[in-house]
Amino acid sequence: MTQKQTLTVRDNRTGDEYELDITDGAIRASDVGKIGKTEDEAGLAVYDPGFTNTASTRSAVTFIDGDKGILEYRGYPIEQLAESSNFLEVAYLLIYGELPTREQYERWEHEITFHTFVHEDIKTVMRGFRYDAHPMGMLLSSVGALSTFYPEARNITDEQIRHEQIVRLIAKMPTLGAWSFRHAQGKPYVYPDNDLSYAENFLSMLFRMSEPKYEPDPRLTKALEVLFILHADHEQNASANAVRSVGSTQVDPYSAVSAGIAALFGPLHGGANEAVLRMLKRIGSKEKVPAFIEGVKNGDERLMGFGHRVYKNYDPRAKIIKKACDEVFEVTGVNPLLEVAQELEKIALEDDYFVSRKLYPNVDFYSGLIYEALQFPPEMFTVLFAIPRTAGWLAQWIELVDDPEQKIARPKQIYTGGRELDFVPASERWK
Ligand SMILES: CC(C)(COP(=O)(O)OP(=O)(O)OC[C@H]1O[C@@H](n2cnc3c(N)ncnc32)[C@H](O)[C@@H]1OP(=O)(O)O)[C@@H](O)C(=O)NCCC(=O)NCCS
Repeated sequence: MTQKQTLTVRDNRTGDEYELDITDGAIRASDVGKIGKTEDEAGLAVYDPGFTNTASTRSAVTFIDGDKGILEYRGYPIEQLAESSNFLEVAYLLIYGELPTREQYERWEHEITFHTFVHEDIKTVMRGFRYDAHPMGMLLSSVGALSTFYPEARNITDEQIRHEQIVRLIAKMPTLGAWSFRHAQGKPYVYPDNDLSYAENFLSMLFRMSEPKYEPDPRLTKALEVLFILHADHEQNASANAVRSVGSTQVDPYSAVSAGIAALFGPLHGGANEAVLRMLKRIGSKEKVPAFIEGVKNGDERLMGFGHRVYKNYDPRAKIIKKACDEVFEVTGVNPLLEVAQELEKIALEDDYFVSRKLYPNVDFYSGLIYEALQFPPEMFTVLFAIPRTAGWLAQWIELVDDPEQKIARPKQIYTGGRELDFVPASERWK
């Protein structure tokens, strides 16, 4: 017998019954709004701070099954993409929905490579920042500033214009990210080298000094590609939601993406790997791990890099990063904190406190160790996240722009303030 895909709700205030359609496991908030609605009274609303159980969109970009530890971009498992693809191919897949043909890939790679340079005036904008400016502040401002260089970007429904802005954003993010890193060090900004691949060019702009050609170790380039792939999208997270929310006003994509960067800047979103590193340094050695774990179990500490709102199993990205660690450390030498991390993981995965709460390592548990081994200061970790996530933000943004069901994002509120007070002018109040 086929089940009826509806929900019957009885409003005990009035005794009225309503039948709401269920589609794809969801009811529509607008149908809930019909409950109890009269000419004078607003209908029932749904209260959900932080959107913990509210779907804001239909999306075909990224699939996550947190209980099973599955992550797929456009249906392709993250493990296969990390193993056999590269970041530019994954970016194309996320944005355009299909793996590129050879011809499409070559054109895409060519376009991205030849848009890596930024207008010289952007350099002047970046130079204007204080010597100790946080690179994320520089990144979000300079991406926002790009909107003034490409005013045609406001035409968000023209597919060709849209494509040009997508290419520019993906191409210029490493340039802006690398320059924000060089700025803090007082080093000259390095121009892109169009002979290099996307990841190689980024490393060159970060680390090149007087050598005529920068040649990164291929193992480091590969590790960076893998990290970029793993961070490219994660469905409706806080920054994707920021891009969609700001994008719903039909603003240009530079402004929408800079809103995504701002959201990522927050410690609850992009900052956890830095917290993991600080924790590992505080623990200091393998011998001190059991005492630290006891502290976590007593509620005095939190095991950073463990647990996830969605994943209630091993975060599939953490497994891949753990493998990439070994390859990076072959080049850079082992980070002594790795031993502490491994011991923490070993003890935690056997301990009932963590097992019963389904707390497993997440993507941030090992990524900070790699970034540190690559000589990045902690402030750069979020920039390294923002560069690849731009592909995901743009994929989410196109989906939003093309979705006829989407409207300007404008949530309801439950008003709790005063009403109809009589205003007394300051001249009388302050007598
Ligand atoms: C990511 C995180 C915010 C998810 O939180 P959440 O889904 O709201 O889960 P909760 O905070 O409800 O946690 C459920 C239980 O596990 C415990 N818990 C969750 N993460 C924990 C951690 N990292 N260390 C110790 N205990 C943890 C909570 O104290 C709670 O225990 P209780 O049921 O006895 O109260 C949380 O796991 C966390 O703070 N992790 C560390 C920070 C981190 O790595 N963030 C990066 C995420 S990619």
